[in-house]
Amino acid sequence: MSEHGRDGWGTRLGVILAVMGSAVGLGNFLRFPGLAAQYEGGAFMIPYFVALFVLGLPLAWGEWAMGRFGGARGFNSSPGIYRSIWKSKAAPYLGVLGMIVPVIIYMYYVLIESWCLGYAWYYLSGTMAQVGKEAATLAADGAPLSRVPYENLFSGFTGAEADGAAVTGAGMMFLLFCFVLNFILIYRGLSKGIEKFCLIAMPALILCAVLVLVRVLTLPNITEGLGFMWNPRGAPDKPFVEGFFASLMNPKMWLDATGQIFFSLSVGFGIIITYSSYLKEDDDIALSSLTSAAGNEFCEVALGGLITIPAAFIFLGAAAVGSTFTLGFLTLPMVFESMPLGYIAGFLFFFLLFLAAVTSSLSMLQPAIALLEEGLGVNRKTSVSILGFMTLCGTSFVLYFSEGTLALSTFDFWIGTFCIYLLAMFQVFLFGWALGPKRGMEELDRGSEIHVPRAVGFILRWVAPVYLMVIFVAFVWEQASAERESNMFAQIVDNKVVMMSVGFIVLVTVFFLLIIHQAVKRWQLNEAQQEAGS
Ligand code: ALA
Repeated sequence: MSEHGRDGWGTRLGVILAVMGSAVGLGNFLRFPGLAAQYEGGAFMIPYFVALFVLGLPLAWGEWAMGRFGGARGFNSSPGIYRSIWKSKAAPYLGVLGMIVPVIIYMYYVLIESWCLGYAWYYLSGTMAQVGKEAATLAADGAPLSRVPYENLFSGFTGAEADGAAVTGAGMMFLLFCFVLNFILIYRGLSKGIEKFCLIAMPALILCAVLVLVRVLTLPNITEGLGFMWNPRGAPDKPFVEGFFASLMNPKMWLDATGQIFFSLSVGFGIIITYSSYLKEDDDIALSSLTSAAGNEFCEVALGGLITIPAAFIFLGAAAVGSTFTLGFLTLPMVFESMPLGYIAGFLFFFLLFLAAVTSSLSMLQPAIALLEEGLGVNRKTSVSILGFMTLCGTSFVLYFSEGTLALSTFDFWIGTFCIYLLAMFQVFLFGWALGPKRGMEELDRGSEIHVPRAVGFILRWVAPVYLMVIFVAFVWEQASAERESNMFAQIVDNKVVMMSVGFIVLVTVFFLLIIHQAVKRWQLNEAQQEAGS
């Protein structure tokens, strides 16, 4: 329990691993390698590291500092914390972003989590060996494997061929398991649920990743695979230097690299701010934040970056690598089928993905639990029931409207990209202008075991807002000028499922705004009573 008698963290290692667990997820092992390969390997790392140092790390420090600041004033939810920092009537209502981002991402993230669990189970139970045999039998002349059995297996989970197909598909049991597991852990609370699970899951997933990495790095010709992933290369029709600079001029690469940093660090999610609000006033946050971010980068660049793409490249070539889902759920099983000890590596890989996904999805539930409890004064059972019902509706929606995974992509675009930018921009404003760099850096320094450079305050006040604004405008511009079929703005009017998905997002937003309104009334009443009493 924290000093305010609320739920709290048990140990310092626990909170570091919980934040790291929130950060390390599917983004590290699937999204990152997919993007790096798509954007000429090494070249992608330039905008990636710029975004890490200019936005990711400073904002992570900012979120930790603001969270502990709000926690010391009795708040754990974004609306409450924002209100304690910025004395504007709008502040708590803008906290709605800190609710819808994690909660709606959870609605589809848990589905992908269940696919990972399903694949891990299929490796363990021998189903994957059957699929492999079938793929070898159906293989075309000269090819080692046919892709068809893998596609059939995957579409059994996604239901991508028609709406409603996933409801009767192979994944329902796994989804149910993941859903219940997340809510049991969240019901148990911070130290007994989230922290305990992360203390076991994080070392376990890193061990699995290291074992898979050893298998991949001992493959013949691995240097070619590593070269494909990491050597900077430009457009193939241009000389190296010209091609390299041409690829750096691609604004979409900068957008995607920035989005990846936010997604990967769980920054702009409304999660870190809630997690750190449960710390004590003098707990270190500067080193803890740096440790979590460094741990995330290790898992992303050193583990995620060395496993998937190099292995896929040496067995199946550049053309087969594919985007995030194709890479993870079609290409990699074919790669594991082709390599010695591949079934063990396959199980370990999907099991580690599952663990990484659970530690992230858990963290997406805590911000709303905090609001429901401190805003409405309900107990854990009620908050878990309300959130359970809401997320069940959302996940069922994504599960049902599965054709072309359209509902999932729409949620991911509007919430997992668009709203993350909005929330990050608002939090940068909150630290740089409402709290101010002086108070903000003092907060960061209290109890700190390292000296955070003063430049961080300057960056959050001046550099990050401009950088984010430019990236955001470029992002909106890029979308608005895309062809009508791939333009997410136009799709709201053109496509019924997209329209309904956006409608669902609006509904959830209104629901949280109503709760925030109730919460504000309650907080004002408490404050008035305290004033009258003193
Ligand atoms: N940060 C989490 C991930 O990378 C959401 O998957």
